[in-house]
Amino acid sequence: MIADFASWRSSVGADKHQIRVALRDGDIVGWVFVRGSRNQKAELAHLCVEPSSRRIGVGSALLEAALSICEGRASTLVAGTEEYWTSAHQFLEKVGYQLSPKAADGRRVYSKTIIAPSAGHTQ
Ligand SMILES: CC(C)(COP(=O)(O)OP(=O)(O)OC[C@H]1O[C@@H](n2cnc3c(N)ncnc32)[C@H](O)[C@@H]1OP(=O)(O)O)[C@@H](O)C(=O)NCCC(=O)NCCS
Repeated sequence: MIADFASWRSSVGADKHQIRVALRDGDIVGWVFVRGSRNQKAELAHLCVEPSSRRIGVGSALLEAALSICEGRASTLVAGTEEYWTSAHQFLEKVGYQLSPKAADGRRVYSKTIIAPSAGHTQ
């Protein structure tokens, strides 16, 4: 369902920005945009699922794809949200993102620690 769509370098910096899209019956029904990492933090810049394809796991799959992008490049994926994005808050909490202390302007920032697949294994 998830396919590579684009990858490019920002015109203003060296950080890599990447997009993954979700395909359903060949149509793009969602996308995630990850902004390159600074200080081991990558930012979930955009995540959206087309309304008729919501609540069937597309958003969760796109977040998994975002985490895969970050593996080896960042230790934390951060998602900033507005105070009134209540469904996004419920979604992020459901998929295991931690709420940071609320900012003074009411924005909510969620984050997830990125664990590489091999982490914790010893030979
Ligand atoms: C938020 C959004 C990305 C979720 O995408 P999705 O494909 O519907 O998410 P999933 O199907 O993977 O949902 C996983 C779980 O998250 C929770 N969840 C998802 N949408 C929710 C909503 N609107 N209200 C409450 N909980 C929600 C549910 O627990 C859901 O599991 P369930 O359907 O078994 O109950 C989508 O609603 C969207 O594009 N919204 C508009 C843009 C936006 O808010 N982007 C997020 C910015 S961080």
